[in-house]
Amino acid sequence: MMKDLAGKTAFVTGAGSGIGLGIATALAQAGVKVMLCDIEEAALARAVEGLRQTNADVDSVRADVSLKAELQSAADATIARYGEVHIVVNNAGVGGGGGYGAWNDAAWSWTIGVNLMAVVWGVEIFGPLIERHGQGGHIVNTASIAGMISGSGNAYNVTKFGVVALSEGLRVELAPRAIGVSVLCPGFIRTNIIDSARNLPGRFADAVPARSPEATSGQWLEQIRNRVDQGIDPLYVGELVREAIENDWAYVFTDNEFEPFIEARFAGIKRGFDNIRGREPRR
Ligand SMILES: NC(=O)c1ccc[n+]([C@@H]2O[C@H](COP(=O)([O-])OP(=O)(O)OC[C@H]3O[C@@H](n4cnc5c(N)ncnc54)[C@H](O)[C@@H]3O)[C@@H](O)[C@H]2O)c1
Repeated sequence: MMKDLAGKTAFVTGAGSGIGLGIATALAQAGVKVMLCDIEEAALARAVEGLRQTNADVDSVRADVSLKAELQSAADATIARYGEVHIVVNNAGVGGGGGYGAWNDAAWSWTIGVNLMAVVWGVEIFGPLIERHGQGGHIVNTASIAGMISGSGNAYNVTKFGVVALSEGLRVELAPRAIGVSVLCPGFIRTNIIDSARNLPGRFADAVPARSPEATSGQWLEQIRNRVDQGIDPLYVGELVREAIENDWAYVFTDNEFEPFIEARFAGIKRGFDNIRGREPRR
């Protein structure tokens, strides 16, 4: 367990905005050296400038984390700058992709690339870098409440369930290697997630339709936008993540709003078992 964070080094993706910036800030406030990584150069520069005004030891590296080679370069830059890394926060994410009837291949590829494959690669690339110094470390993967309950069958939920599955499995696999794993499952947080398409890589250009044909989907998006605009402070989330690293929490929730929905899902799963309880499966 990483009780004393001061002097350690962290690498945080999606750190130019929202939750990633909140996590980078909370870690920097605890004396952690932080390498901020993001696809958006200007946001990164602003974030670093703001943090340096607090005397934090921070630096930044631009990368599109949905490209493995760019994530590898960002890892190389982190080692070149700070020598070693203890904490990795795979947080960059996009709210991409529509539901049934509205999705397309580009939206699936974009969402899977940023929200899921970047997390897989973050573990693959940074795991050995944590292991090699022998001081232990911690990996935080940002999923969502949408990684626990699925309101629609879209790419976002699929990737977030994937991040939860990956994190649960890795927590068991990496414990003997002195690496803790936490999965962050936020509710509504006040960030720029609704405008994710601002950082859509050119190769996924078809992911965002010019204009949604369904008025209902527009209304739905407006409701989500309102919830996000009135959401929880990202720095509060960063402080929770810091506490989670210090105490090796498996799951990091931000509030209890969706707990009853998760209980309802478990009850549905239980009913599935009840349907066949007592039967002798034919072999
Ligand atoms: N805001 C919420 O209510 C909420 C709820 C649950 C989960 N989340 C998750 O939190 C994480 C952070 O999102 P946020 O809400 O802070 O949104 P945000 O848009 O404010 O921040 C996301 C950051 O990721 C960066 N990013 C996007 N694509 C990238 C790429 N290809 N390579 C590198 N960086 C990239 C963006 O530039 C941005 O700075 C995401 O994984 C999101 O799914 C957010």
